[in-house]
Amino acid sequence: MPRRPKLAHWALAVFVLASCDGGSPQVREFRGAYPEAAHPTGAVREFALTAAPAQVTFPDGRILAVWAYDGQVPGPTLRVRLGDTVRVRFTNHLAESTTIHWHGVRVPNAMDGVPNVTQPPIAPGGTFIYEFTPKDAGTFWFHPHIRSPEQIERGLFGVLIVEDEHPQPYTRDVVWVLDDWLLTPSGEIAPDFVTRHDLAHDGRWGNVVTVNGSSRTVLDVRPGERIRLRLLDVANGRVFAPDLGGLEAKVIAVDGLYAARPLDPAGFVLAPGNRLDLDVTIPAALRGQRLVIQDRFTRQPFALATIAVADTEPVATPDFPPPATAHVPNWSDTTDMAPRLTFKLDARAGGPFGIEWTINDQVMDHVHDTHDHGAPYTLPRAEWSKLRFENASYRLHPMHMHGLFFKVLARNGTPVDEPYFRDTVLVRPKETVDVGTVPLDAGRWMAHCHILEHAEAGMMTLVDVR
Ligand code: C2O
Ligand code: CU
Repeated sequence: MPRRPKLAHWALAVFVLASCDGGSPQVREFRGAYPEAAHPTGAVREFALTAAPAQVTFPDGRILAVWAYDGQVPGPTLRVRLGDTVRVRFTNHLAESTTIHWHGVRVPNAMDGVPNVTQPPIAPGGTFIYEFTPKDAGTFWFHPHIRSPEQIERGLFGVLIVEDEHPQPYTRDVVWVLDDWLLTPSGEIAPDFVTRHDLAHDGRWGNVVTVNGSSRTVLDVRPGERIRLRLLDVANGRVFAPDLGGLEAKVIAVDGLYAARPLDPAGFVLAPGNRLDLDVTIPAALRGQRLVIQDRFTRQPFALATIAVADTEPVATPDFPPPATAHVPNWSDTTDMAPRLTFKLDARAGGPFGIEWTINDQVMDHVHDTHDHGAPYTLPRAEWSKLRFENASYRLHPMHMHGLFFKVLARNGTPVDEPYFRDTVLVRPKETVDVGTVPLDAGRWMAHCHILEHAEAGMMTLVDVR
């Protein structure tokens, strides 16, 4: 070891002081990735939202008794600008308690919609005002956080789009909400939820797949158009792998936030909770053709939706750089660093459903167990941490964390290059996934599997960021 010169003690003290401000190399590399504070412009966007049972006629003629926000499935798309303050006056006309969670939005902890952790459940007939100023532009969604395997499956979900301050001039901005339904032979929503079958597998997978509530969604476009296509997976358990072959498509954002650069969509999947924003140009050569977008996650590919290209002269394709120029740290020097927290994901027999899904051999039930046990895990705010998800089971676990974004560093110990953040990562059977994060938002945040049946049977926990 080289001998330290005399000056060094003093210099070291200065360095230590400076590093409180300057942070670790990982924190310094992170700086500028996403903002610490919201920047409200003063504009307040008010929405009234009601959850209630409803009868919905879908575009394909199907009539279904559902639970819905404002009588529609998907619920309304709330569209705001970055800097707007969102104020939602919510009324619960369901026969049971509910809450709204704003998936992927860095809200003040008290607005996060987690029952008995961030707010009391909203009883039938009750109201609650959710108010926050989004800190990030992007594609987000909202859904209940109580009995979610049933409430979300019956139709309670909606989209929140936070537009950039200066949105790029796409010819259109399209939202595709991907979902599936498990219907009985007579066409009702199958009334058994969180079954042993769901729990022994990857949750409840339906027998009807829909895009925006329809199994026959057609997007009519003109050749030459340049579209921002926002995909969301709101299913309880189903993973989607849309095949965009034939289109000039690039992934520009994942789970809301922009990627560092436009990415080839090949290999991307959407697990429950995930979003993908695509920059799609309709080639002039497709004039007059119908392009079927297929799902290829399962062995049996099937049609998700159709893009029908008009037989007209191509329109001029707007020319601008894709808005995928976010600052995303590499954190490529962290391979040998130890995780601050490890979450072992597994199952065991027991509990109210017969099977429990566990995180480090613990289960959590935030609805029935209203006792405040504190948060089992802590992360230091504004510091870099490595987290490890270690799947000891043979099932899928799309692990979601509230209140922060993380970046995948390695799978099974092998570094991966994902130049983007996520709020939900699919952990495959027996796989270990390392992620890095710099949480900026203080509070007690949930970490859970977004296969809703797994979460309901225990696979959730709390991380206190402070
Ligand atoms: Cu969309 Cu706690 O999740
Ligand atoms: Cu799971």
